[in-house]
Amino acid sequence: MRIAVFASGTGSNFTAIADAIQANEIKGAQIGLVFSDKPAAPVIEKARARDYETLVLEPAAFASKAAFERKLIEELQYHAIDFIVLAGYMRIIGNILLSAYEGRVINIHPSLLPSFPGKSGIADAFAYGVKVTGVTVHYVDAGIDTGPIIAQEIVRIDTDDTLTSVTEKIHQVEHQIYPAVLAEIVEKGLSNRE
Ligand code: GRF
Repeated sequence: MRIAVFASGTGSNFTAIADAIQANEIKGAQIGLVFSDKPAAPVIEKARARDYETLVLEPAAFASKAAFERKLIEELQYHAIDFIVLAGYMRIIGNILLSAYEGRVINIHPSLLPSFPGKSGIADAFAYGVKVTGVTVHYVDAGIDTGPIIAQEIVRIDTDDTLTSVTEKIHQVEHQIYPAVLAEIVEKGLSNRE
């Protein structure tokens, strides 16, 4: 299965997935493309350093979101991409891209959805004072962090935790769960969605 990783930032989840593929822990998966909407995103450097194909398209350079997504689909098809893995991709996937890759886009979110969706799931959970938060991997639909949940793992917030320590714990869990979920999806094949 040829995967495209979409990321707007650091790319630590991309690294975890790429490491797992290199270690042959996601059998049958290949990263066919690393895409970013941000030219300066560190993930692009990381991907180039590992000799992956990369693509940067800035939505502002297109007349509309539809035009942006049509170009993106063209590129995904050119790279023979079967499956899209969002890893810190900070844009909503529009209907055009979603219908081209229906049931074949997943995302990781740093909270136990449906609690604390949106851009700052870790900080929002910490500020709320919850004692348990976590990580969710889910299929992507037209909403924000709303698609069918595939896997979740809890992270406890102890009294001596800080936002930094919780963030670290969340990332550690992310780097385990995302490659593991991907391995299961690839193993079961694309037909087994639920
Ligand atoms: C992760 O916390 C992920 O859950 C969220 O964005 C962050 C991306 O981090 N969607 P990185 O770029 O993979 O380091």
